[in-house]
Amino acid sequence: MKYFIITGTSRGIGESIAEQLISPNHYLYCISRGKNADLVRKSKNIKYYEVDLNQFQQIESLMESIFNSIDFSKAVGIYLINNASIIAPVTFIDTAMISDITQNINVNLIAPILLTSLFIKNSNKYLIEKRILNISSASVKYHHPGMSLYSAAKAGLDVFSQCVGLEQNHSIAPVGVVSIWPGMIDTNLQREARNQDKSTFPSANLFQNVKDAGMLSTPEETAKQIIEFLFKTDFEHGTVVDIYDYSKVQQTYD
Ligand SMILES: NC(=O)c1ccc[n+]([C@@H]2O[C@H](COP(=O)([O-])OP(=O)(O)OC[C@H]3O[C@@H](n4cnc5c(N)ncnc54)[C@H](OP(=O)(O)O)[C@@H]3O)[C@@H](O)[C@H]2O)c1
Repeated sequence: MKYFIITGTSRGIGESIAEQLISPNHYLYCISRGKNADLVRKSKNIKYYEVDLNQFQQIESLMESIFNSIDFSKAVGIYLINNASIIAPVTFIDTAMISDITQNINVNLIAPILLTSLFIKNSNKYLIEKRILNISSASVKYHHPGMSLYSAAKAGLDVFSQCVGLEQNHSIAPVGVVSIWPGMIDTNLQREARNQDKSTFPSANLFQNVKDAGMLSTPEETAKQIIEFLFKTDFEHGTVVDIYDYSKVQQTYD
């Protein structure tokens, strides 16, 4: 049995990843605030945790519950996909509320850090395939006024993945860690970016143009690419990997 812990499975890329991973040989632990009842209906091998990752005090007991239910005598692999994310607040930093600032960093950076730490700690003694994919973003490289928190959190996630990758080179039962930039995908997160007030988020037009030009990938296509990457023989451990061709998007800037 392969075990998968996936955050952000109520919609978008996370939902598609979970759907495509459904198999009698896979067991899925799905995490988001809202339960995805359609997903749960599709397989007996899903346990759903309705957890708010902003409440990071709950993460230790969440991982304890997950690891207690894994049958390691049958496990051939265990995987963590840190996918949950929020783009809000999309605003210049001097107009952001303190609670929104901390929520963004909690969900986008602190929660994946805690989940990674607990994943490694709880799986330390098992010599099976162990991999973590941190879903990051090209927003680390392409900056927009009003998206400083999202970009900073994802940049932090990339550096974190690379550093933990180096640490795992010292382990006798290493966990592979990769940060992945998935591209631009037609999800709620994109909708939120293009629907912002143009006076407070000047790049809203750019996000609209990308949508209008048909440059967005579907969550299904992206999930397929992410899963292919997750199972690759050469996992590119300790790196940041861009799986999208950004030259297409660059044209909209010209
Ligand atoms: N879409 C793009 O163009 C794009 C581009 C680059 C990178 N990405 C990355 O791809 C990943 C997936 O994004 P998406 O586009 O699929 O976004 P999405 O459709 O908005 O889905 C986000 C998911 O995260 C969950 N989530 C948000 N806040 C949470 C919280 N406090 N606690 C638990 N779960 C929470 C949501 O569930 P609930 O609301 O039910 O909690 C939802 O399932 C993210 O890491 C994002 O940064 C997306």
